[in-house]
Amino acid sequence: MTKPDGSVVIVTGGTGGIGTEICKRLSADGYAVVAADVAISPARNGEPLTDVAPRVHACAIDIRDQKSVEECVDVARGFGSIHGVVNCAGLLRHGQIDEITEEAMETVWDVNVAGMIRVCRAAVPHMRPGGAIVNISSVTASIGRLRGGGIYGASKAGMETFTRYLAHELAPMGIRVNALAPGFIEVLPMSASMRFIASGDTDEEAIAWLLQHIPMKRMGQAVEMAGPTAFLLSSDASYITSQVLHADGGVVGI
Ligand SMILES: NC(=O)c1ccc[n+]([C@@H]2O[C@H](COP(=O)([O-])OP(=O)(O)OC[C@H]3O[C@@H](n4cnc5c(N)ncnc54)[C@H](O)[C@@H]3O)[C@@H](O)[C@H]2O)c1
Repeated sequence: MTKPDGSVVIVTGGTGGIGTEICKRLSADGYAVVAADVAISPARNGEPLTDVAPRVHACAIDIRDQKSVEECVDVARGFGSIHGVVNCAGLLRHGQIDEITEEAMETVWDVNVAGMIRVCRAAVPHMRPGGAIVNISSVTASIGRLRGGGIYGASKAGMETFTRYLAHELAPMGIRVNALAPGFIEVLPMSASMRFIASGDTDEEAIAWLLQHIPMKRMGQAVEMAGPTAFLLSSDASYITSQVLHADGGVVGI
């Protein structure tokens, strides 16, 4: 793997279950990493997160707000030139057709789709040839057998479609855009929405239901999303753009 010292990668959702593992891996690969998350206070902007890994820095961001996104990109530029963006911030709301609320629809769209677009819009002008974007999608974009998973799955399908369009737009600039679609990843405790779409009242029931749908017969670990993300950001993936890589134990392909 290339070790692009001095290059910065912004990871939104960087303090979440999957985002933290991605930050650790990118730090180990030699990047300066900006872990950007709504859970971080602005007072901590630029603070080193040495408890996570060396070269990882905190940044407050709310991807529902363009100004907040632009401020975070400015913080990231203080650490070097922006090589990459990982759009990992996201949230899940559930609801079957008679239960879907306006609030759930708007929130899921605003964060998962519009939020990703806001981050790309702010970061791309500062990226250079060789740069890369990875959008963290989900297998729910490609399957329909999760109870009440429609608005979330549709948002992730939206992420994947935007990935293709942005890849087309940025290809002449030498910037690649891909999506990573995790399967069912063990981030515990599960949210109420995760338990609902997995037909469980408890984490144990939800996991038992999910296992029936995973050919490899185990949940994924957050750390297993880090290597594929690092690959898509690296020069090893230099001729790969506009793709969706499923890291899902066979859920979609088998
Ligand atoms: N856990 C899974 O099984 C799974 C499967 C497929 C895809 N995903 C996707 O992976 C990504 C990470 O999920 P996770 O399981 O680590 O969940 P998580 O809840 O641990 O992490 C999500 C992070 O996004 C942040 N966030 C939410 N709204 C935000 C906003 N408006 N601005 C900035 N940050 C915001 C949260 O604070 C949180 O730290 C999400 O996009 C999720 O949809 C997760």
